[in-house]
Amino acid sequence: MSALSEEQSLQIRPIKEHIGAEVTGVDLTQPVDKATRQALNDAVIDNVALVIRDQHFTPAQFAVAAELFGELMPDQIKSNLVEGLPMVSILSNFEKDSMGNQAKVPKNATWHTDHTNKERPPNYTFLYAVEIPEKGGGTSVVNMNAAYEALPAATRAKIDTMKTANVKISSSRLKSANRDVLAEQIALGEPPVIHPLVRTHPERGTKAIWFHTGKTENIEGMDPTETQEFLGNLLKESAKPEFAYTHEWKLGDLLIVDNRSALHKAGSDYDMSQHRKLYRTMVRGDRPY
Ligand code: OGA
Ligand code: MN
Repeated sequence: MSALSEEQSLQIRPIKEHIGAEVTGVDLTQPVDKATRQALNDAVIDNVALVIRDQHFTPAQFAVAAELFGELMPDQIKSNLVEGLPMVSILSNFEKDSMGNQAKVPKNATWHTDHTNKERPPNYTFLYAVEIPEKGGGTSVVNMNAAYEALPAATRAKIDTMKTANVKISSSRLKSANRDVLAEQIALGEPPVIHPLVRTHPERGTKAIWFHTGKTENIEGMDPTETQEFLGNLLKESAKPEFAYTHEWKLGDLLIVDNRSALHKAGSDYDMSQHRKLYRTMVRGDRPY
């Protein structure tokens, strides 16, 4: 085969009407020209979730690939970082907690967006699978702009002005919380960060319902119990299957989520005795409005 016929060209194909696109024909360990970079940036925003196939990354190459989309930001949980790479964390179901026990509960398995307890949460989250279970354990992403637009006007008007108070671990999650993270939250004594429940996409002007189920202590004017009930109902009403895409992992997949118009969650439908290991990094964002 000649070198020319081996060379692939960039292809971006939509996955579903409301969410997802699949990219082939690009190797992000190699230099990427300006047009390709722009096409990938547009594709993640327009499709909310972007799957780039057949990447062969070391953790450092994974971080460099993510930098095509902006400046990386550190994970607030420092216990699972790749050694020597403060911007890349390891998500693993085999990780031990502070007591030395293997966590039995699946992590990140409820709808959320990352680091909402920060004033400037990440624009994008990048996930790259290095070990995957035989089946299940996909990552789901839902287009919360489409979900918002499909709501009745009265519901939209009601939620438009709501504000969330965001902490590392909300009171509803205290019992199941990782003790290290909880200790850190108490030690820091950080006041909750207030964000809009419905945020505007700074590059598109669109609106999306945006929160972290386990980090929302309360919606302003509601108590924590009412808040969880309200958010649960809102999700039922809005985060419909037609707006969601579950990415069933193949090795070599890079998944990029535009956090400004999405919620996501990890699948818990797999054999927990099998190892599920992903690298994660994030690109810095601005204050939601
Ligand atoms: C996370 C997360 C998704 C996954 O770590 O915040 O959402 O599929 N992970 O593991
Ligand atoms: Mn997440």
